Amino acid sequence: MCQPQPEGLRVVITGKGGVGKTTLTSCLATVLAANGINVLAVDEDPQMNLPNALGLDHEAASRIVPLNLHADYIEEKTGIRPGRSGWGAMFKLNPDVEDVVERFGLKIRDNLNLLVMGTVKQAGGGCLCAENVLLDATIRHLALRRNDAILLDTQAGMEHFGRALSKGFGQCLVVADNTFNALTVACHSAALARQTGIPLVYLVVNRIAPGGSAKLERFQKENGCRLEETFDAIVELPAEPALEALDPDVTRIMEDRESRYAAAVTSLASLLNAPPCSCSASATTHHHAH
Ligand SMILES: Nc1ncnc2c1ncn2[C@@H]1O[C@H](COP(=O)(O)OP(=O)(O)O)[C@@H](O)[C@H]1O
Ligand SMILES: [Mg+2]
Repeated sequence: MCQPQPEGLRVVITGKGGVGKTTLTSCLATVLAANGINVLAVDEDPQMNLPNALGLDHEAASRIVPLNLHADYIEEKTGIRPGRSGWGAMFKLNPDVEDVVERFGLKIRDNLNLLVMGTVKQAGGGCLCAENVLLDATIRHLALRRNDAILLDTQAGMEHFGRALSKGFGQCLVVADNTFNALTVACHSAALARQTGIPLVYLVVNRIAPGGSAKLERFQKENGCRLEETFDAIVELPAEPALEALDPDVTRIMEDRESRYAAAVTSLASLLNAPPCSCSASATTHHHAH
């Protein structure tokens, strides 16, 4: 059965640290914005690299206060000041954060805005702290937001979002590099994304060197993870030596007409814009970056 796509383009980008998530998120954001789509890039990674990757200057980037540290806003919305006990106080579990993007979103350029969320605390035992309640409400708000394509750059593992993501995030990009380790993490992340209820889960194998596809094949044989059954599509992105010189302003690679990485990101953006329906594993498409 084909599952209907939630309205609008809402994509979660996840995967192990260092595999190229932030680079990919910022390049996708750039290409979508250049095509006239209103993009909101959301940084949920504790490292907060997305502002720099999007080309914000260092000084402006260092002034950003992530949403989870805006104590006044959190108190205004949830009724609880972060760090104080909620016992006995009125705690709004479903705060209305309708104004969150307008208040804390940063305009990067035309059609491209950034929201730095900060990270959900992974406290054991299901801690109900004010910051988490606010971030959760923000994710739910983003999931329902019309007129914006949302790209959410996350740390590895998004269990902490629970079902909030499935309410509107239709696609998940699991990024891995072409190593056993990263691909193993990717298979695990795919299972989590499915549990979360995201209908389309793609594998992005980044930094493929010439001849690298053979290694992917070997991984599948030895690891027993059938990538083509686990993912709705497999997208390969070539290694791009030019990124190093551009760092941290990596989106400038998208201006390079010769770059195979830029071309592959552009096709990935088209795939996201016109996703295959999540019918069955047999509908798996294999996208090559060549
Ligand atoms: N396709 C690629 N080819 C070469 N270097 C890459 C590629 N993709 C990302 N990188 C580099 O790898 C490093 C980590 O990328 P980053 O996007 O910050 O990873 P993550 O967000 O997953 O931690 C950066 O220096 C980036 O420029
Ligand atoms: Mg990152």
